[in-house]
Amino acid sequence: MAQIIFDAVSKRFNDVPVIENLSLHIRDQEFMVFVGPSGCGKSTALRMIAGLEEISAGTLSIGDRVVNDVHPKDRDVAMVFQSYALYPHMSVRDNIAFGLKIRKLPPAEIDALVNDAASMLGLTEFLDRKPRALSGGQRQRVALGRAIVRKPKVFLFDEPLSNLDAELRVVMRAEIARLQRRLKITTVYVTHDQVEAMTMGDRIAVLAPLKRHPAGNLMQVGTPLELYDRPQNLFVARFIGTPSMNVVPMEVDASGTQLRHQDLVLPVPASFRAGIGNYHGRTVSVGFRPEHVGHAEEHQWTSVAPIRGAVEIVETLGHEAMIHFRLGEHMLIGKIRGHGLTLPRPGETVELVIKADGLHLFDPQSEKRLPEA
Ligand SMILES: Nc1ncnc2c1ncn2[C@@H]1O[C@H](COP(=O)(O)OP(=O)(O)OP(=O)(O)O)[C@@H](O)[C@H]1O
Ligand SMILES: [Mg+2]
Repeated sequence: MAQIIFDAVSKRFNDVPVIENLSLHIRDQEFMVFVGPSGCGKSTALRMIAGLEEISAGTLSIGDRVVNDVHPKDRDVAMVFQSYALYPHMSVRDNIAFGLKIRKLPPAEIDALVNDAASMLGLTEFLDRKPRALSGGQRQRVALGRAIVRKPKVFLFDEPLSNLDAELRVVMRAEIARLQRRLKITTVYVTHDQVEAMTMGDRIAVLAPLKRHPAGNLMQVGTPLELYDRPQNLFVARFIGTPSMNVVPMEVDASGTQLRHQDLVLPVPASFRAGIGNYHGRTVSVGFRPEHVGHAEEHQWTSVAPIRGAVEIVETLGHEAMIHFRLGEHMLIGKIRGHGLTLPRPGETVELVIKADGLHLFDPQSEKRLPEA
């Protein structure tokens, strides 16, 4: 059982706190992604699992063993970095076999393990080449091979695809996800790319920098759809999804049924009605995703509210178009169908609709999602 448990873990670098009160249970065989903006502590959290950073407070366990004071080489974890860190003078075969030779495994066993990994990764025909004669994607596969042959309890990845071009990143992320499912090895994967997080993870942990959230970095843990459909705070709401969720401060009317901002009026969604009692007459942050803004004549929703705005930018992507429009001081984005519609032009006023039951409501001070039935 290679579960990983952070229990109230904190990390300071020379008294500067970077991770605070992190509690997280990564299940055996799970693919967990750490995602968050630059500097939020993703790599630091990963390096604590590897044993490359000391833990300032709390306990970290792998399997059923507390590893706070266990040496990195005794933790049975394999780590893959953004820089492949291959030995340039060694062949692919020797690069993959390196760790096994150090551990003095019998040569026949090493050969079998290397051949197995190479065939799994499509590297068989490159085994005698040097790394410089490989493409970036092939080099990253060699780094993966080196991790696989060790048959570790835990795989750790720190932005392994950042050096690859966009197309290859898509191929490799599918490959890594498939490999992990086949090998069933507990995996923690760090990325700042929320699309990578959404497509690869069984679950995702969203981290924020302590400067923004001093009480703790962990903003939410959940499956990709849990984070997308029910973000528990504004940080997650804005971080997950491209383009980002639109957020507008709106006043709750005295009866708790309507939200208002200038001439925009939205109904309070049924799921929030019971919980909105304390907010009558107050302002809440109202979020709606760009795909929940539609063309007035083309939407397919049963309950909608109209919204008007001054168009500033129209991005046509083919199958869809992004309409950037202004509502008072707020810039909003609508994602509408790219074909068969007369798209608005910059400078025009556009009449769109909002899917009325697709709203997310947050407290503007605590930034937490309002209680929902
Ligand atoms: N050895 C160190 N000494 C002092 N501060 C450090 C050290 N390592 C990291 N930090 C600081 O800790 C914070 C978190 O760093 P970390 O590398 O974990 O961020 P990250 O989320 O991985 O960011 P990125 O996406 O840019 O890789 C940063 O503010 C960084 O400057
Ligand atoms: Mg990092």
